[in-house]
Amino acid sequence: MSAGPALSAFRCVACDAKYPIREVRTSCDACGSLLDVVPDLGAFGRPGAAWRDLFERRRTAPLPPGTPAIARSGVWRYREHVFPVLPESDIVSKPEGATRLYAPRALGDELGLPGLHVKHEGENPTLSFKDRGMTVGVSWARHLGLTDVACASTGDTSAALAAYAAEVPGMRAIVLLPDAKITGEQLSQALHYGATTLGLATDFDGCMRIVADLTSSRPIYLLNSKNPVRIEGQKTIGWEAIQDLGWTVPDWFVVPVGNAGNVSAIGKGLREWLDLGVIEKKPRLAGIQAAAADPFYQSYLKGFSERVTRVAGETAASAIRIGAPVSHPKAEREIRFFDGVVARVTEEELLDAAALANRHGLAICPNSAVALAGAAKLRAEGVIRKADLVVVIATAHALKFSQAAAAYHEGKNRFSNPPRRLPATLDAVLEALG
Ligand code: F0G
Repeated sequence: MSAGPALSAFRCVACDAKYPIREVRTSCDACGSLLDVVPDLGAFGRPGAAWRDLFERRRTAPLPPGTPAIARSGVWRYREHVFPVLPESDIVSKPEGATRLYAPRALGDELGLPGLHVKHEGENPTLSFKDRGMTVGVSWARHLGLTDVACASTGDTSAALAAYAAEVPGMRAIVLLPDAKITGEQLSQALHYGATTLGLATDFDGCMRIVADLTSSRPIYLLNSKNPVRIEGQKTIGWEAIQDLGWTVPDWFVVPVGNAGNVSAIGKGLREWLDLGVIEKKPRLAGIQAAAADPFYQSYLKGFSERVTRVAGETAASAIRIGAPVSHPKAEREIRFFDGVVARVTEEELLDAAALANRHGLAICPNSAVALAGAAKLRAEGVIRKADLVVVIATAHALKFSQAAAAYHEGKNRFSNPPRRLPATLDAVLEALG
């Protein structure tokens, strides 16, 4: 990469074993645990302020027609810190990231969070945050000459994998989905982008076990967030939110937790920027789960003395319906480091929060609403203080989950806004308007 040859390696989170970065691997041979990508970012020899200047110049640079996608990307804006061993010529970028950070005052006031900000990752090309990790994962697969890539998914990873693989000639995306447990919109994405789409008669955790076996026994590259290369792209969410805030570090990042890759990624990125002096303050992290799928919360309640797993129950937050989060060890590490908390919310709380945010014009999905409802709950409990600057990560767009919204509004709920069906006459319309 033009910016200089910083070295990266894989390192096991449990036993510290190290592996060359170019090896095709997603877990540790010695102990089977997760791997981190460990970049040598200090090798660039640039102080924190110089990095901020560089990223600010890139953000504000003019973008005439023909400007390559990576110059517009909110992931590759930070390219030296993302995956410096990847040649620019192999990058597949749509571009992704560069999402808006909203400061919805009326919504914040209603939730008792005057310092509320929402980073809307639903504004990514496939309408979820997964594009940030996938631009790195698929680009690396292309660089290594790997043609078959696979994931298990609750619907958003599969959409992103399919969409990025679709841009690489000869690359095949294989997606394993829990049959009838993802939304129609998510399924349509995988089909439309041309993925080999397999609906298995199991849940996400069952799909995850099978894809792990599949990719360890065949030359198929695993692109779930268990793959540490993907985490390198996802860590830009926190960075970009900080840059959006004019380099102010918020008091809190609040993140919905499913497979626990995202909270791990955000934490890793923030630690790297603390080490480099790009930021000086440590924010706190809050991971929020739906009560129906709360294994990470249960582990947290036990002080992480035990790694709890469970069968995840039905929830409108179907993208985080996960009972055995693969990235648990990394997520635990970040929650500890950032003096974090883990909370859970009920279906009513998450659905009302989704409805309220949308009523205020913010089109966030039920999974994102888990984080929003969690932030409100932590505020009510006094964990988050009134004056705190809070960034809630909205992970996907409302329109990927239209059935949940329709069911909410057709039902008798706190913010229901049901459609009325009328005869096709002006009188009927006037009467309905009152
Ligand atoms: N929000 C949305 C919209 C998601 O799709 C996911 C995960 C999460 C939150 C949780 O992120 O797993 O990193 O803790 N979706 C994965 C998928 C599992 O297959 O699309 P996490």
